[in-house]
Amino acid sequence: TSSKQQQLIQLHEKAAEVYHHMLVNTAIGEAALDYLHKRGLNDQLIEEFNIGFAPNQRDFLVRVFQNEALDSNIFPESGLFVERENKELVDRFYQRIMFPIRNFQGKTVGFSGRFFATEDFDDQDQPKYLNSPETTLFNKREILFNFDKARSGIRKSGTVYLFEGFMDVLAAYRTGVTNGIASMGTSLTNEQITAISRVAQELVLCYDGDQAGIAATDRAIGHLQESSGIDLSVVSVPENLDPDEYVKKYGQEPFVKLLEHGKETVFSFKMHYRRMNKNMSNEKEQVEYVQELLHDLLNVDSLIEQDRYLTQLSTEFQISRETLQQQLRDLKRQRR
Ligand code: CTP
Ligand code: MN
Ligand code: MN
Ligand code: MN
Ligand code: MN
Repeated sequence: TSSKQQQLIQLHEKAAEVYHHMLVNTAIGEAALDYLHKRGLNDQLIEEFNIGFAPNQRDFLVRVFQNEALDSNIFPESGLFVERENKELVDRFYQRIMFPIRNFQGKTVGFSGRFFATEDFDDQDQPKYLNSPETTLFNKREILFNFDKARSGIRKSGTVYLFEGFMDVLAAYRTGVTNGIASMGTSLTNEQITAISRVAQELVLCYDGDQAGIAATDRAIGHLQESSGIDLSVVSVPENLDPDEYVKKYGQEPFVKLLEHGKETVFSFKMHYRRMNKNMSNEKEQVEYVQELLHDLLNVDSLIEQDRYLTQLSTEFQISRETLQQQLRDLKRQRR
């Protein structure tokens, strides 16, 4: 890393430190701290992840940095500020709970700020999460939340849990599942998949249980099957809950059990998923369903698994196994 990079990291570490101070030691952060406690984040976790609060003040960080006599030439490219029309720099993040985003080396290179509504500031137009913009330091394509901390546990167990949001990573972390990671609200990139495949044999997808999360699971499966040989499985969180909400509603132990025993194969996920978008009492859609699933079956490497699913489809739709197998062979030939 160049000295410029080091300077930018220094700004982020400084910012994280003062945001954290505001959250845990001052009256300004009190309500936000209460909120985090109510969401189940204890002080130890807040320390460990260095969570903070950016007050509702557009020149908070500007002033802190001025007092520290930091080199203001690099402020604009840090992503921590936005430029007003008169060229004046103001804080990008305000009235937000601040989650430092670390790179694979554990250095803070960006932030995600969750808007925190209060009585005197309840702006409906604020996005729930605001992330650092792309900078030379913060490359969203390469960032995986918590990967630096999770890596050794992933290596040891061989398994990584991929969640949709970092509140889910933190919820899992609390339950002792420390090998969880998340992308930054974007779909998985090749860079991220490469980094994951280097340390993990098995990836468990555990996205939100709502429609958006289920659709995102299907997309993630597509990316992962395309560009990695990693062993994939899916945990669907029931009742439209996300993992964090599940922990809150049912407790830590049931969540750990869900991760352990609720794993299903990708194909089983596909059987549920493809059904959701179809009217299965319509014969034409039934046939489409079987055809789509035969395509999915091409991605199933295990012959034992393949055999089971062929039997299942054959039984459910009254199609002979021979016909299904023939069709599968044809599809295989076409794909080559
Ligand atoms: N996200 C984002 N900007 C938004 C909403 C979401 O960048 N306006 C990203 C965040 O990285 C978030 C992830 O998408 O972690 C998942 O979104 P969502 O499920 O809506 O958020 P949660 O993680 O459930 O957050 P919370 O529990 O605080 O509502
Ligand atoms: Mn502290
Ligand atoms: Mn979601
Ligand atoms: Mn969610
Ligand atoms: Mn949530």
